[in-house]
Amino acid sequence: MTHILHRQISPALPVAASGRGIELFDRNGRAYLDASGGAAVSCLGHGHPDVIAALHAQVDQLAYAHTGFFTSEVAERLADRLIADAPKGLTHVYLVSGGSEAMEAALKMARQYFLERGQPERRHIIARRQSYHGNTLGALAAGGNEWRREPYRPLLIETHHIDPCFAYREQEPGESDSAYAARAARSLEEKILELGPKNVLAFVAETVVGATAGAVPPVADYFRRIRSICDRHGVLLILDEVMCGMGRTGTLHACEQEGISPDLMLIAKGLGGGYQPIGAVLLSGAIFDAFARGSGSFQHGHTYMGHPMACAAALAVQEVIRRDNLLANVRKQGAHLQQRLRELFREHPHVGDIRGRGLFCGVELVADRATKAPFPPGLRLHARIKREAMARGLMVYPMGGTIDGTRGDHVLLAPPFIVDAATIDIIATRLSESVEAALNAMPVPTPS
Ligand SMILES: Cc1ncc(COP(=O)(O)O)c(C=O)c1O
Repeated sequence: MTHILHRQISPALPVAASGRGIELFDRNGRAYLDASGGAAVSCLGHGHPDVIAALHAQVDQLAYAHTGFFTSEVAERLADRLIADAPKGLTHVYLVSGGSEAMEAALKMARQYFLERGQPERRHIIARRQSYHGNTLGALAAGGNEWRREPYRPLLIETHHIDPCFAYREQEPGESDSAYAARAARSLEEKILELGPKNVLAFVAETVVGATAGAVPPVADYFRRIRSICDRHGVLLILDEVMCGMGRTGTLHACEQEGISPDLMLIAKGLGGGYQPIGAVLLSGAIFDAFARGSGSFQHGHTYMGHPMACAAALAVQEVIRRDNLLANVRKQGAHLQQRLRELFREHPHVGDIRGRGLFCGVELVADRATKAPFPPGLRLHARIKREAMARGLMVYPMGGTIDGTRGDHVLLAPPFIVDAATIDIIATRLSESVEAALNAMPVPTPS
């Protein structure tokens, strides 16, 4: 009998007892290959000795000092590291404890920036359907994940959603990538014009969409167009790289591959690799200057922001990634993973799309490849795959609602950056067996 309100009240979860490298072990000694890093978190795997040593050293020195009274050396060093590698124009860091907190802070920063600049009428937030920005009320309002939003709709602040850039589902047959990029980006400009450009605060997007749609990269040029639309109307661009950032796609920041910089950028999961809860907002010099020359502060704060233990973990994680040149491994093993998935699933009647970047891959399941019709949501194919995978000692991150929050199933893969080719082969084979077992156990598949 548990006294924890778990995410699901039943069935009972296995009890995680230890972790080493790419594996987690439950208290019965059963091993689970962590092919999703939990939810794209554990970028260095588990039990990394350098991170553990850094945490020991930090706790011996200083566990906590409230940021209303002190800064700490470790927080300053982490901020220096993050800004040294930041996209152009981002000059300061606001340290929080996770992705949702980062989104809340970014939305308030955007609002305060325009207040400091004497534009109080700017209040509208535009985001995209089929996105996830966190579960706190502001972040949930920004997100476009319908099943998560629905129960709390009366509590959510007003936000506006445009279509995502989702080539497999939204690009028309015969439409070129550049025509599609232009069409998808145009919907932002139309929305800004509809709301009145002087009333719009910010546009929020995941550079590569994560859990909601399954590792969906933008088509070429989409974000360059988005950046110039935002600039044309003085709207801030907030990129949410909580899941896709900090190396996951093969470059430290996913937006590097788009050739743009945001005004505000959110990072979290891979920042601390799960060794401590930590997230951050990276902000532009222009936003920092508006605060510095204006009210002199950002009107926000949390008890645990800039926590020295969290900063020590993140600094150690980031130093190991750099020292061991792990982003090269992300690119190499990411290509291998894509290739293995294509070999296994290219001809599969129920795999519609294999996508992603680096070690961030999505496999979308369909009832019918020709029409892209999904399986009936009631069958919960994604949950069946997760069950079958866990039974085979494999952790992957499947989700339903890929298309519109209700229909569609995908599996997200996000193995640690330390993965090797032989382990990728095992992951791909076990995933293939799990998908097969889940499909075979389903009632006769009929398109919904
Ligand atoms: C893109 C994105 N943004 C924000 C969040 C929220 O982060 P957290 O769960 O740390 O609050 C997540 C979590 O999955 C995410 O994937």
